[in-house]
Amino acid sequence: MRRKLAAGNWKMHGLAADLDQVDALSVAHPAPECDILICPPATLIARMAERAAGSAIHVGGQDCHHADAGAHTGEISAPMLADAGATHVILGHSERRADHGESDALVRAKAEAAHRAGLTAIICVGETETERDDGRTLDVIGTQLSGSLPATARAQNTVIAYEPVWAIGTGRTPSAEQIAEVHAHLRARLVELIPGGDDVRLLYGGSVKPSNAAQIFAIPNVDGALVGGASLKAADFSAIITAL
Ligand code: G3P
Repeated sequence: MRRKLAAGNWKMHGLAADLDQVDALSVAHPAPECDILICPPATLIARMAERAAGSAIHVGGQDCHHADAGAHTGEISAPMLADAGATHVILGHSERRADHGESDALVRAKAEAAHRAGLTAIICVGETETERDDGRTLDVIGTQLSGSLPATARAQNTVIAYEPVWAIGTGRTPSAEQIAEVHAHLRARLVELIPGGDDVRLLYGGSVKPSNAAQIFAIPNVDGALVGGASLKAADFSAIITAL
């Protein structure tokens, strides 16, 4: 039985005042039936982890470097995230693949670094609208998955998030059939690629909101969500957690 995961990706949003959301969520969900994770910007990780101590809320990073330390100005390593109180890290988000040219090989190296530091890697995959229109969705997703997944990946330290690029921040979501098709494909590939692949959690991400969460969570092989915009308001994220 895969425990569900509601993960919020704050992206480049959030100042100290927004840490109040942690209090609101921990009061609303003292003993949730799913795991709850918030990935704030790096500047807030340590303070959020302190604020979330004793609650059911986990804190994660949005990226890490593939090296554990070194002369890499401006970068943050996986051991630093763990030291700040993070338990998870999002890797290979399409915004990083697009904005920073991150390849599958780099994402895999980052996931290895995350595992070395004891972090759970949330590895993101997803097709562009053109790739979907060209009928290449499953090929693209399968290639990203096999290229980004390190040999160290197991159900205990790895989560996969399917985020169609065209659904991120657009208010558009794939049909239930489209999500089911991709998640079934990811599940089949995971079973082939790693021991215990059936236990790896598969998140859907892309315009998840309170109004569509329950419908999305009812789709087979959807074990939770990676939520962007709707995770910025505690009330909305709380409603999504409740729908899981
Ligand atoms: O990582 C979450 C994300 O890319 C989805 O963003 O704003 O469409 O929920 P959003």
